[in-house]
Amino acid sequence: NAASDYQPQQWESSSNEALKISLISADANEGAIQFLPNFTYPIFGDSETIYGYKDLVIHLVFDSITYKPFLNVKYREKLADADPQVDIIDKLLNFLPVDDIILKDESKWVDTFTEERQQFDIPSLGEKVNEYTSDDETFSIYKFSISDFFTKDNKSPVIKYWERVQIFTILYIEAATYLNLKDESNWNVYFIFNKATNAMIGYTTTYQYWNYSNGIKFDQDDKLKYREKISQFIIMPPYQGHGHGSHLYQSLYKKWLQDESIIELTVEDPNEQFDDLRDRNDLEMLYNTSDLFRNLEKMDTVSDDWIELQRSQFKLEKRQFNRLIEMILLYLNK
Ligand code: ACO
Repeated sequence: NAASDYQPQQWESSSNEALKISLISADANEGAIQFLPNFTYPIFGDSETIYGYKDLVIHLVFDSITYKPFLNVKYREKLADADPQVDIIDKLLNFLPVDDIILKDESKWVDTFTEERQQFDIPSLGEKVNEYTSDDETFSIYKFSISDFFTKDNKSPVIKYWERVQIFTILYIEAATYLNLKDESNWNVYFIFNKATNAMIGYTTTYQYWNYSNGIKFDQDDKLKYREKISQFIIMPPYQGHGHGSHLYQSLYKKWLQDESIIELTVEDPNEQFDDLRDRNDLEMLYNTSDLFRNLEKMDTVSDDWIELQRSQFKLEKRQFNRLIEMILLYLNK
């Protein structure tokens, strides 16, 4: 053995760099797009380090239509008595559908997803919410409610699909956890599909909860009022920066604005990128569809009551709406 073999760092890999994620394009001629995760600590621990392997590469590959997963682990050498010996496949299988994933056998995986593509009809099981065009292609947004995913005896194909896809949530959103599918709840998932190819572009999970804020009014109201919360929001890395996130956010906002039972749109733990997307889209919406900019320009003082009235009409959260007002006043040089 070379002396360097005894240097511990030789056997150490960053799990954020060793894990290569790929999506196989809908068009077979275009091949695969490879990218790295943002987070792997839920899988490999807080140090995001894997010890005991040399030249480690973990290939986690998905078909962009069926999301049929494939996993293959490659390395030059494995340290026999490494302590703790990290079993990479076991660690990953905690987060992947064990009965569905194909390990190592690449041609079996290609055959399986190629065949599955022929029958793929997940969008038809959802409710179409919106359609938009970007870069000359058409995309459709479909809503699926978690409680509808379960049929009486059989697992719905949507559940199977979701179990393939959900790992992207923990790989790209900090502190995210999996939805509890057994929980008969008010969770919904909205997917974006490329209309022509059925490639899945991104998704968001949302939760609807009753508005308890005003007890008396709540008791008197015949109709229940809800808040909608965006919980996990992700555009698959190869498709980011093409406006898909904005289209998804705008579609949800429009849907909820028109729905009389919804009083407010909230967001769970938004990160900086999401705040940015939300601010840009909220400001654009306020500028294009309301008199808010013009009214603020004319006013000398802005009362809290007036702001609250506007806020409730736009169904935006208090903190968010105050931020927007501040940004508009800055823009107007006020
Ligand atoms: N051509 C070129 N650029 C464009 C186009 C276009 N047609 N449309 C928009 N852009 C630009 C935007 O101006 C924006 O630029 P900026 O970053 O300089 O402001 C940028 O592209 C991103 O805007 P979108 O394309 O609308 O957003 P995207 O589809 O990339 O989605 C998101 C943004 C959701 C944050 C995505 O990057 C992502 O999934 N990240 C990883 C997961 C994540 O962080 N999710 C949010 C966690 S918080 C939560 O879940 C509540």
